[in-house]
Amino acid sequence: MANAPAEVEAQKQAAAARALELVRPGTIVGLGTGSTARYFIEGLARRVRSGLTVQAVVTSLESRAQAEAGGIPITERTDGWLDLAVDGADEIDPAVNCVKGRGGALLREKIVAHASRRFVLIADESKLVGRLGRGAVPVEVLPFLWEATSRSIESLGGQPELRMTAGRPFTSDNGNLILDTTFGTVDAALSAALHGIPGVLEHGLFFGMARAAIVGSAAGVRILGELP
Ligand code: 5RP
Repeated sequence: MANAPAEVEAQKQAAAARALELVRPGTIVGLGTGSTARYFIEGLARRVRSGLTVQAVVTSLESRAQAEAGGIPITERTDGWLDLAVDGADEIDPAVNCVKGRGGALLREKIVAHASRRFVLIADESKLVGRLGRGAVPVEVLPFLWEATSRSIESLGGQPELRMTAGRPFTSDNGNLILDTTFGTVDAALSAALHGIPGVLEHGLFFGMARAAIVGSAAGVRILGELP
């Protein structure tokens, strides 16, 4: 049975609170996007107001607005790796691979995750799956000839559907379209094949990227993988 909405929010909050313990003073932190990441940003802003010195790289305009309002210094320039990135996920498997991007921020989220020494997921327990691919995989594509790109994705066995919002195509922060694509099987080979299609800018399969997932559950906070 699904958890009540208040319990789900409490689980997200508990996961975000545990992730805040990983933030080291004087470092650059990657801030994810979505309702769970919001709790992390909120907590980080509180710590910044209490004197913590950090800078943040944001993965979306929405997270930027929240971070700025909370007084977290934002940067887009790093001369090395980010120390830590913390983000939500749509599906997480037992090996801490995940599907992301149902909030539409997958391209920047993957860049930030890849640029970080430690990438940690935060989620409520509804995100745990035995196998990825329960729902659609978001694929960000260039608007130019997007129907042709969509057909190429179909040739990999996918069923792409253009994401719409308020009767219009959804546009990412980068000005691109999202094809929410259902696949029979989702694996690392599919990830590589999608990257081989011109017009595909990024997809929401994150294989081997997260070191750990902090998951709020009815029994308390669970850790999948190893907390770095
Ligand atoms: C946005 C994302 C989000 O992290 C993902 O959709 C989870 O969101 P939420 O925490 O609201 O469930 O990938 O692009």
